[in-house]
Amino acid sequence: MIELRNVKKNFDDLEVLKDISMTICDHEIYGIIGQSGAGKSTLLRCINGLEDYQSGEILVNGEKVTLEDKNKLRQMQKNMGMIFQNFNLLNRLDVYDNVALPMKFWGMKTKTPEAKKKIEGLIELVGLSDKIHARPRELSGGQKQRVAIARALVLDPQILLCDEATSALDPAITKEILDLLQKINKEMGITIVVVTHQMEVVKQICERVSFLKNGKVLAEGRPEELFVKPIREVKQFLQEESGHLPSEGVNIQLFFTDESSDDPVITMMARALNVDFSICWGKLEDFRSNVFGSLVINVKEEDREKVCAYLDEKKVLWEVL
Ligand SMILES: Nc1ncnc2c1ncn2[C@@H]1O[C@H](COP(=O)(O)OP(=O)(O)OP(=O)(O)O)[C@@H](O)[C@H]1O
Ligand SMILES: [Mg+2]
Repeated sequence: MIELRNVKKNFDDLEVLKDISMTICDHEIYGIIGQSGAGKSTLLRCINGLEDYQSGEILVNGEKVTLEDKNKLRQMQKNMGMIFQNFNLLNRLDVYDNVALPMKFWGMKTKTPEAKKKIEGLIELVGLSDKIHARPRELSGGQKQRVAIARALVLDPQILLCDEATSALDPAITKEILDLLQKINKEMGITIVVVTHQMEVVKQICERVSFLKNGKVLAEGRPEELFVKPIREVKQFLQEESGHLPSEGVNIQLFFTDESSDDPVITMMARALNVDFSICWGKLEDFRSNVFGSLVINVKEEDREKVCAYLDEKKVLWEVL
């Protein structure tokens, strides 16, 4: 549905996107994560034609995004709602009129019975029916983002692009907004692209994710694939360190993913091999309600071979640190 092929983009001498290729499928929630300055917002702005790019191709539903044909671009933009970190609401308008704004831009009537049904329906969907005539300054950050989401959906887009949509919100409100995005994805079948530097966002809702650094995609896959056994750059981004590990013996890191069995491998191993080991570091994390994680154990040098063989047999991913 959204296809990027070898996209390159410069701002003068600065290469911001370097040969980016990715495919975002219909109805999925796709994450783009990376440090500040990685090029995430620029990428999103290229997808919906707010920015031009120098080479490569961006196709949305098979049509090329290009600034050359303004009319066609406007039609394509209608199909892509967008929300931002700072909500971008108009303070002089109430919730209803903020949500209705894109319809006004398209010269549609916003007070007809059908329009009212649509706008009020969206305001209900985002849980703000009791605030329908409130002004933005009377709303909390989470509520403002709900208004922005309703507004982004008012032209019936198939795609919703979110640029750091939860970065200004506290963890509890972030979770509420992410739940809402998930509901919109499930119930309305809308494809959602989320740009974020928050790992939590990706873990909670994304089915697939790209990790961007200096304008390049360094890793792509399911969040658990990227984050449970991260490549060096992702590890740096997560600032994840396995703490102070013992200098004696052998430190072995185990990775528990959905390919691992559900057996209590660690205790079974201790019994089966009659070995002792200490647990030096660990983490368990929720990925869209599955728990995955990693553990570092320290074993005696003489046990190393049989422990590794046992882990292989049990299909647990491991590496010696
Ligand atoms: N309009 C512009 N003119 C010149 N340079 C720009 C422009 N917009 C972005 N840049 C530069 O492009 C690079 C990527 O910026 P971008 O905003 O895409 O990063 P980002 O990954 O979204 O970062 P953040 O997480 O801070 O939002 C940065 O070095 C930025 O300074
Ligand atoms: Mg940005």
